[in-house]
Amino acid sequence: MGDKREISRRTFLNYALMGTGGFLAAGMITPMLRFAVDPLLQGHTGGDMVAVGSPDDFGPDPKRVEFKVHTKDGWYESETTLSAWIRKLEDGTILALSPICKHLGCTVDWNTSPDFPNEYFCPCHMGRYAINGEHILGTPPTASLDEYETEIKDGKLYLGAVKANPRAGVSG
Ligand code: FES
Repeated sequence: MGDKREISRRTFLNYALMGTGGFLAAGMITPMLRFAVDPLLQGHTGGDMVAVGSPDDFGPDPKRVEFKVHTKDGWYESETTLSAWIRKLEDGTILALSPICKHLGCTVDWNTSPDFPNEYFCPCHMGRYAINGEHILGTPPTASLDEYETEIKDGKLYLGAVKANPRAGVSG
């Protein structure tokens, strides 16, 4: 009788400990799972299109615009200022280039080097790009400047996600 009582007490304690441990583990793991899975469920809002003006604001010469994007990554929200070099192509479509150099990520500027007029120039390592973002062969970048997705809606130009520029390099 005494043995039975001791075993059942031990068993009870084991169950109680397992229950408490399981409860505590669930309490710790659930937030971790939510942290990991929430962003996947919520999706990223950074890919939203942002209005940057009227298409008529842009002509054949690249014009720099700055715009803010609101990014929500799970619980973390932030506002980032981005910029684009925008021009209207001969066929009337809009090309919006990212100013981030494809060599090591410095910022390029349009028409700032007296030695290389009418080009995008990266001051970090003398990277050069032609007017539609084509990298100039023989300079450090090995890819053309990325471009933003564009959309014209209700008389406004919207920029979206950055995508690779399909234009090949050109000789300078
Ligand atoms: S970062 Fe632009 S040329 Fe190196």
